[in-house]
Amino acid sequence: MEENKQEKYKDPFRATLTGIMDLFKKQVPVGTISDSDRLDGKTVVVDGASSGLGFAVAIEVASRGAKTVMVCRSGIPSKGEEVKRLSGNPDVHMLQVDFSDLRSIEKVCLELKSGFAPIDVLISNAGVVPNKSRKTPQGLEEMFVVNYFSKFCYVTSLIENGSFGKLSLEGQHGMNIPRIIFVSSESHRNPSMIKWDDFGRFTPYSIKQAMEHYGHNKLLLTTFAVELSRRLNPNSHNACSVFALCPGPVNSNIARESPKIFQPLLRLVFRMFFRSPKDASAPVIYFSVSKDVEGKSFDYLFLMNRKDVDSKALNFDNGKKLWEMSSALKKKM
Ligand SMILES: NC(=O)c1ccc[n+]([C@@H]2O[C@H](COP(=O)([O-])OP(=O)(O)OC[C@H]3O[C@@H](n4cnc5c(N)ncnc54)[C@H](OP(=O)(O)O)[C@@H]3O)[C@@H](O)[C@H]2O)c1
Repeated sequence: MEENKQEKYKDPFRATLTGIMDLFKKQVPVGTISDSDRLDGKTVVVDGASSGLGFAVAIEVASRGAKTVMVCRSGIPSKGEEVKRLSGNPDVHMLQVDFSDLRSIEKVCLELKSGFAPIDVLISNAGVVPNKSRKTPQGLEEMFVVNYFSKFCYVTSLIENGSFGKLSLEGQHGMNIPRIIFVSSESHRNPSMIKWDDFGRFTPYSIKQAMEHYGHNKLLLTTFAVELSRRLNPNSHNACSVFALCPGPVNSNIARESPKIFQPLLRLVFRMFFRSPKDASAPVIYFSVSKDVEGKSFDYLFLMNRKDVDSKALNFDNGKKLWEMSSALKKKM
């Protein structure tokens, strides 16, 4: 059983097949989103919004009336202009960030605090699948930083600098309960364990191991999401909702670094079998806007189905250890 689970996301081919097969499984949607679910008066920050899922999410939240802040590496200002045009909402803003560079994250956290606090909904979406290991400006590994560690640094810095109002890691309570939403992946179930000895260490890998690393970083991200919820909501006093989700297979640019020879085939498979970014954005929009999840401390969706996260991500000791190791690494950087 455990071996089967690990096989499902072992390489890009099997991960693609798994994604397609998941779409044909019986769905039990947790709820629906209607046009009357609005975000007027709310500030929604979404990153990785220049492409794929994040771009579709930006259009949708802007269409529902949110002040929309697109935190992007590229596409400034063209993607923001497109979101304004497609949503009919002029209250759309763009900030530049490179999530592989911790200095760039510090800068954007200050800009968010001074220009857009208090944030009501933060959607942490940016992600990459590099075809091989690459060093970041701080000498860490890019997929580890973009898909996990940048999110730890970004979210904890925003909490500490007051971007979510009165929210704090000591469990103080604000008037409004903000929502923090992480775009994870079902591949977080793939690794048999967290590789603590390699944490933060530059480990070279090639395209063959890319999906394995991807799943491991999504496991770190999901474990962090659970632990963040524990720390923000002690003693069942809910101060902040933390949500995580897998959007299922999305016809996006995520496979942009796959070998050139496979790209025409992959594009065809993505177009034929994967969901459009707009359709795939449903769980993100549900968590952003739905009254059904108001005040909840934690929830996880796969497509629109409620699921438990993997037991490794739920594990209390894993959460504590990950938090401590991530904090220590953040201080060192
Ligand atoms: N596609 C799928 O089938 C699938 C399935 C499960 C989960 N997901 C997750 O969904 C999320 C969105 O991915 P997607 O499918 O929409 O892929 P995508 O089209 O490639 O979008 C990825 C976004 O992340 C941004 N990004 C990448 N590296 C960055 C960096 N260093 N700094 C700042 N932004 C960076 C990209 O910016 P640029 O445009 O500047 O490169 C882009 O906006 C990811 O977390 C992914 O893991 C995707």
